[in-house]
Amino acid sequence: MPISFESLHPDVGVQISGCDLSRALPEQDFKALVEAYYRYSVVVIRGQSLTPIQQAVFVRSFGTPKISQRKEFHVAGVPEIGRVGNVKNPDGTPAAFLDRYGDLWHSDTASDDHLDGVTMLYCVETPKVGGDTCFVSLSKAYETLPADLKARIAGRQVTHNFNKHNDYLLARNQGAAKPLSPADRAKWEDRVHDLVQTHPVTGRQLYFISPTLVKTISGYTEVESQELARLLVEHATRPESVYRHKWQVGDLVFWDNRASLHSASPANYVGGNRLMHRGYAYVDTTH
Ligand SMILES: [Fe+2]
Repeated sequence: MPISFESLHPDVGVQISGCDLSRALPEQDFKALVEAYYRYSVVVIRGQSLTPIQQAVFVRSFGTPKISQRKEFHVAGVPEIGRVGNVKNPDGTPAAFLDRYGDLWHSDTASDDHLDGVTMLYCVETPKVGGDTCFVSLSKAYETLPADLKARIAGRQVTHNFNKHNDYLLARNQGAAKPLSPADRAKWEDRVHDLVQTHPVTGRQLYFISPTLVKTISGYTEVESQELARLLVEHATRPESVYRHKWQVGDLVFWDNRASLHSASPANYVGGNRLMHRGYAYVDTTH
């Protein structure tokens, strides 16, 4: 069956049908899939049946896998794939990482130097209600940004730091994040990124910002930086700009973290648990 494409939203997201990712794709199909990934930023492929090893092979076809630090949630024998969700072990301990990071708009690459990262979630279990994932395009956000805001961010740099995000989570809800020791905090260095960027593959301009990690924007005070970040994220995430993905078991969804923001819904699921198998790869965009 030839592969086919269906846009999911005018700004972001495409559904691809006719792919079986448990086997190597024909070269021209893989090429088409990569082109769609860049063009639409978010790719949805439903009806898959993937073992963690098969998913890891697909992750590797995009780039160098990043191994999650949360070893306790690695799938046994497949460290490239981590469990994310609210499932529990028989003794009541978590069997997956309950990602409270998830229910805020963010990019998974903001605490890194390498912004071209693909996140791949494969749905193993999903509740009847809750657990949707929302996406927006940062290229579209830049294109539609009012001229005065474009002028305010031209040539600026944004400093992201994971500690800022962790502090935010702790302040919001005790227990929502792990308090970090001074040694752990020291590991998370500031990452300085150009706020306005040209995507290395699509050539589209975008603004790269992951709100809860923002420390400062160059040329602005801390307070001004936070206000500017708020305006930029508010613009990017206007309801009409959002593609909301309702998960089905067997969905594989992957996205370009430079070109999009995503947000999960709060983890108050109804009618079942949520379990995703998550992989991530650094993508080389230089060829
Ligand atoms: Fe994320």
